[in-house]
Formats: sequence, structure tokens, C-alpha cells
Amino acid sequence: MKKGNVAVLLSGRGSNFAAIVRASRRPGANFSVRLAISDRGDAAGLKKAARLGIPARHVDPGRFPGKAAYEEHLCGLMAAAGIDLVCLAGYMRLVGPVLLGRFPGRILNIHPALLPSFPGLDAQEQALRHGVKVSGCTVHFVDAGTDTGPIVAQQAVAVRPGDDVGSLSRRILRQEHRIFPRAIALFFAGRLQVSGRTVMIRGK
Ligand code: GAR
Repeated sequence: MKKGNVAVLLSGRGSNFAAIVRASRRPGANFSVRLAISDRGDAAGLKKAARLGIPARHVDPGRFPGKAAYEEHLCGLMAAAGIDLVCLAGYMRLVGPVLLGRFPGRILNIHPALLPSFPGLDAQEQALRHGVKVSGCTVHFVDAGTDTGPIVAQQAVAVRPGDDVGSLSRRILRQEHRIFPRAIALFFAGRLQVSGRTVMIRGK
């Protein structure tokens, strides 16, 4: 079986990245992680990549005249690695037209809330402040908006009395680590069919 090639873009801890790598190394996995790119030099995810034996690069957006030039550089790295799918795993930047144009329908993001509720930054804190009883996480295709693309998978997580941002985030994160690799596997199995805003998951 020819495996799909994944690049992970991250900005921080990299726990979703590590979960995706672990899933890619299970027997029968249909994808492998070829590259990790961080926009921050101090991202713990870069050290995780070294431990996991995944080629990793820090690309500082500040070294480029603008977002387009920065993303052209990312596209060059990904082309050299033969990347089929880009996964945003705690990548705290909006994707611009260059990256979107190079990977149409081939960029996935994980968000720590049940979209369309609580897009953007600090989703868990937004959910707690709003007083919801259920939050969760979402994997979606990336479009030009902030967390607005077609939804692939969601997992609900109950908010417990006394939850704070830390406790809720930890429980949501455990579910992120499950649904993101599953969505990637569905993508490479050719089982995701996008029609407008709806992503149908085709049977085997
Ligand atoms: C995750 O909770 C992810 O959903 C969130 O950042 C965290 C990254 O953790 N992403 C966003 O908030 C994007 N809007 P990780 O670096 O350990 O995977």
C-alpha cells in the first residue's frame, strides 16, 4: 500500500503532532508523517520531532517580507518532501492564499471546541465563560476564514462542575488525539467527500 505523506504545522507543545506520529506507526496505517514545521523556534514540538525521528524545521515568518513569501517557502519544503496533506496541530496562524492555493481541500485543522462555537483563540476559556455544559473538539478542512471550513469530525466533552481551563483542556486534548489521526486516515482512504459545507464519510 502506498502511504499518504503528511506535514504537520505547529507552534507549541506538539501533543497532537506526537499522537499523529504514533497513529502513523501502528500496523496498517495508511499515512506517514514526513515533516514537521514550526513558526516558533521555542516550540516544544520541535524537540518532540527530534525524539520521534521526524525531520523538523523552524521557519521564522519574520525573516520574510510577507505572508506570501513565508508560505512560498513552506510550500517549497513540502514539495521537496512530497507532501499530500497538511495538518495544522496547534498552528497559531491564519493560513493565507498561497498555502490554500497549493493544497486545495488538503489542509486539516484541529480546534478545541465544537465549531461553529468558540472559534479563534482560547476556545476552552470562551466555552467556560459562556457556561456551556458540553464542549469538545473539531477536525475541519481549512478555508480562508478562522475555523470556518467544512467539518470532518467532532467529539463532545462534558463540562464538569468546578472545571477550569486546565482540567477541561486536558479532557478535550485526549479526544483531539483520537479524532485527528482518525480523520487523516479517512482522508487517505478516500472516504471523505465534501459537498458544500458537508463532509460525507463514505462507507468502506
Ligand atoms: C490544541 O488544543 C489545539 O486544538 C489548539 O492548540 C492546542 C495545541 O496543542 N489549537 C487551536 O486552538 C487552534 N485554534 P498541542 O501543541 O499539544 O497539539
